[in-house]
Amino acid sequence: LNIILLGPPGAGKGTQAARLQANRGMVQLSTGDMLRQAVANGTPVGLKAKAVMEKGELVSDAIVSALIGEHLDGSSQSGAIFDGFPRTKHQAEALEILLAERGRTLDHVIELAVDEEALVTRICGRFTCGRCGAPYHDEFKRPRVENVCDVCGSTDFKRRPDDNEQTVRTRMAEYRAKTAPILPYYDERGLVRRIDGMASVEDVAAQIDAILDGP
Ligand code: AP5
Ligand code: ZN
Repeated sequence: LNIILLGPPGAGKGTQAARLQANRGMVQLSTGDMLRQAVANGTPVGLKAKAVMEKGELVSDAIVSALIGEHLDGSSQSGAIFDGFPRTKHQAEALEILLAERGRTLDHVIELAVDEEALVTRICGRFTCGRCGAPYHDEFKRPRVENVCDVCGSTDFKRRPDDNEQTVRTRMAEYRAKTAPILPYYDERGLVRRIDGMASVEDVAAQIDAILDGP
């Protein structure tokens, strides 16, 4: 199965993709994670992307499509979860070509329907484990033992530089202007499955499972 998780910043794409990767062995392909890795490594791509990401704007289609192309083959056995990609019509077209070249197809585009105001709270409260990347939240998902990662035991946590209110507003405006308009492109192909992204993490997961296991 190859699926896209589509929704505005903070909709829960990363949370659900990580869970699908852990439970089903599918491979999470997050362009945001790839770009953050490139920034951390100081690669040429990272140097270009850093300022754009800190403003909350979109990195160029050419850069992110190339990143997906580099990582796609690693997901050929078990399927891919596209998390944060595609984000523009151009990227959607690039993905179609990348998949077709490999004889693969897209099975579902899962749209996480959410209330944008609630997302600001979600995003501004989140943090991750600095070692294994497990996601946490100040209000909704604290580690079981204070300041110790549930997954790997690390005590090193971090927050993203673009998780401040002003940048979040820009990221949402970018979503509305450039990403939401790709929904009709997939709707025409009968691929869009809209789910309630405001439900609990477990409930959203159950909705996704029903789609993946359904007929
Ligand atoms: P990216 O990393 O993709 O960020 P984003 O789309 O803004 O999405 P987020 O990671 O913020 O949110 P999410 O939907 O994954 O939610 P999460 O699961 O973390 O992109 C960052 C930047 O990189 C972009 O701004 C752009 O500059 C660049 N970029 C990336 N891809 C690009 C592309 N294709 N083209 C161009 N530029 C690109 O959840 C959020 C929080 O809520 C967490 O704390 C979580 O624990 C909590 N939570 C999750 N689900 C629930 C729930 N059901 N109930 C309560 N809390 C929940
Ligand atoms: Zn950890």
